[in-house]
Order: sequence, then structure tokens, then C-alpha cells
Amino acid sequence: MTPEHRVALVTGAGRRVGRAIALRLARGGWSVAVHYHRSADEAGRVVEACRALGVRAEALSADLADSEACRDLVIATQASFGALGCLVNNASIFERRPLDALSVADIDRHLAVNLRAPLLLAQEAADALRESEGLIVNLSDAAVTRPWPDHLAYMISKGGLDTLTAGLARALAPRVRVVGIAPGVAAWPEDYDEAARARLTARIPLGRAGTPEDIAELVAYLLTHGGYISGTTIPVDGGRHVV
Ligand SMILES: NC(=O)c1ccc[n+]([C@@H]2O[C@H](COP(=O)([O-])OP(=O)(O)OC[C@H]3O[C@@H](n4cnc5c(N)ncnc54)[C@H](OP(=O)(O)O)[C@@H]3O)[C@@H](O)[C@H]2O)c1
Repeated sequence: MTPEHRVALVTGAGRRVGRAIALRLARGGWSVAVHYHRSADEAGRVVEACRALGVRAEALSADLADSEACRDLVIATQASFGALGCLVNNASIFERRPLDALSVADIDRHLAVNLRAPLLLAQEAADALRESEGLIVNLSDAAVTRPWPDHLAYMISKGGLDTLTAGLARALAPRVRVVGIAPGVAAWPEDYDEAARARLTARIPLGRAGTPEDIAELVAYLLTHGGYISGTTIPVDGGRHVV
């Protein structure tokens, strides 16, 4: 990929995993469109940190539940940076809803943000990514193969995302690669207490929770050394998926 194509759009990049991905790509010399929805201050700080690393960065806001806003986000990225080499679909909703309490609105919201938005962003970005011979990374979840019953809307959205990864890899080949990353624990949900954290950590073969940086390193690897990887979703979960 030529240097002018090294522009990444990272959704949900103001905080947590998305922030780590944005900063890691900036450290690798990538300009970054730092997408956010509500975390404007945090996104601004990520932009400053990226610029301090010597790359271009802009904060771009969009509600990814809105299909027009998804398309506008890609258009705004290209207008700002003139190219797109990597789309990271990281933004996500993760809400606990026991089956009896799960509403149509809950289901629609999860599917819109976690599944429809990545598809619309990929569609809108396809021409630019073909031109740059770029990469799409979809953030899935290692629990998809053993779905949590109190998070069914989230789980089916991520299961669909894995299918989207495989389908887009075929639709956009040979010029664009599409890869999923399935974290186990990369950043604790903020409402998990110590007991819940210890209970989940005890099930991880490597004996520790992961970090946002564990995920960001794989994104960087896929860009620098992963040129023959496409169409699959890779667990980054300390081995949890085999237990
Ligand atoms: N954290 C983990 O351990 C873990 C485990 C398994 C899978 N994953 C996956 O890895 C990715 C990153 O995880 P995370 O925990 O860092 O994610 P997160 O904190 O739950 O969410 C990331 C961002 O998504 C954005 N978002 C939510 N609703 C949105 C909307 N309607 N429009 C636009 N953006 C919206 C939010 O941006 P604003 O703050 O700007 O509103 C939020 O900061 C997610 O896809 C998640 O499913 C994470």
C-alpha cells in the first residue's frame, strides 16, 4: 500500500478498545479518522495523541444506528483525508436483557449498530478500499460460539457479523481483505465487580484478562504482515474458546 493510502477509519475510537486501535495505528504511521458518538472529549484527546505521534487525525461524529449517518461518515473521512486504507468496525452496543425483557427496540438497536452499520460502512468504503488494496476489520466476540443467554440481541448481531466478514471477503476479493477479531475479555464492562471479574478470569487458560492493546496489536499485524489472511475471524481470548 502506498503511504498516501494509509488512512484508517476506526469507529468508536474515543475510548477503550477503539482508542487503543487508533493509537496503535497512529504509532505505525497511519492517519486516523477517530469516529465517536457521545465521547466527544475523549475522541478529541485521541486526536491530539495521534497528532503528537506525527500523523493526521480528525474526530468525526456519527450515530451508527442511522443508516444515512453511516454513509456520511465514510464520505466525510474521504473528504478529510483523500483516501481510505483500513476500516475498523469497532463501535458496538452491549446490553444485558434476559429473554423475557428483550424488546423489539432492543433487538433492532443491536442489529443496527453492531451489524447493519459495518455492512453499510463497508459498502460505502468499497471503492476506496479497492483502490488502496485495503483491509476491513470487524470486532466480533469470542462468546459467539457459546452465546450468553442474557445478551441474545448482542450475540446474534456478532454472529451475523462473522457471516458478514466471510461474505465481504468474497465480495471484495481480490483487492480488499476482510478479517474478524473476536476478543474474550479485552476491557472489562464498567459495571462488572471484582467477583464477576475473578469468576470470568478463572475460565481463561492463560490466566488473565486481555487488554485493548492485545486487540490493537493484531490489527497492526494484519496490516503489516497479514497479507494472506482474509475471510476468517480470529479469537484473541487467552484460549477461552477451547475450554
Ligand atoms: N471489551 C471487551 O472485553 C470485548 C469483548 C468481546 C468483544 N468486544 C468487542 O470489541 C469491540 C470494542 O469493545 P469495547 O468494550 O471497547 O466497546 P464499547 O466500549 O462497548 O463500545 C465502543 C464504542 O461504541 C460506540 N457506540 C455505541 N453506540 C453507538 C452508536 N449508536 N453510534 C456510534 N457509535 C456507538 C461508543 O462510542 P461513544 O463512546 O463515542 O458514544 C463506544 O465508546 C466491540 O465491538 C465489542 O463488541 C469487546
